[in-house]
Amino acid sequence: MSTFTIDTATSRATPSPVPGKRMTAPSLRARKTDGRTEQPIVALTAYTMRMAQLLDPHCDMLLVGDSLGQVIYGLPSTVPVTLEMMCAHGAAVVRGSWHALVTVDMPFGTYEGSAEQAFASCSRVMKETGCAAVKLEGGEAMAPTVDFLTRRGIPVVGHVGLTPQAVNILGGYGARGKNDAEREKILRDAGAIADAGAFCIVVEGVLEDIASEITTAVPVPIIGIGASAQCDGQILVTEDMLGLFERTPRFVKRYADLASEIGEAAAAYAEEVRARAFPTPEQTYRPKGG
Ligand code: KIV
Repeated sequence: MSTFTIDTATSRATPSPVPGKRMTAPSLRARKTDGRTEQPIVALTAYTMRMAQLLDPHCDMLLVGDSLGQVIYGLPSTVPVTLEMMCAHGAAVVRGSWHALVTVDMPFGTYEGSAEQAFASCSRVMKETGCAAVKLEGGEAMAPTVDFLTRRGIPVVGHVGLTPQAVNILGGYGARGKNDAEREKILRDAGAIADAGAFCIVVEGVLEDIASEITTAVPVPIIGIGASAQCDGQILVTEDMLGLFERTPRFVKRYADLASEIGEAAAAYAEEVRARAFPTPEQTYRPKGG
């Protein structure tokens, strides 16, 4: 059974206040015309219904990133993330949003084997979550698969440059494109994925001049993460930009300091419970008039 139907009787998720106004893959693609993006694309990651509700009014795209492996599950990388995890979190994010295009990341090992394997995995994600697009990592080698998927009704977001699922090949998460061979490869990767039909491409962890060259050369919107201001839009991991982690990559800007606020709130609660100062009569059920 599908998990994305909204049950307003039991769920805190709100039904869409503006039915039918959600961003679509073609509307996002159309933000770049004649090589220019007038209005930069705003994207953030979301893994839960409530976070989706809070971010949705401000974003063009919500990405249910496989970064949830590290952020939500405490895994060492995105490699162990499963299709079941992506389906559960993808459905929650769709339930909590009505405006942004929801894209779900395809986890490692569910799409690289063949175009047919990719179609089976991606169509399952779309059926079980209600998302409007999927994202998969890889360049030239994945282009035939992107072509296969897009010709069969699956909108695809590409992901080139630093591709975290390939951490065991790359040897780490450092910026890519530091020599001519790497640089040429990233440029070819972005071109191949766009030619294969991806409607936009995430470019991660590359030097500014590469991001600039890709953004100029490739007709579809380029969404950067650690890829400078030259891109057609930006994406960050929400928990990073909210300041929920002590350590973040250099390209992250913290727009809040939620780790401190949560720590302070938990400490205040603990102190009041230990002092029997919480709950007060205000938070206590009593007979009427009692
Ligand atoms: O998994 C993820 O969150 C991502 C973004 C970092 C682009 O792929």
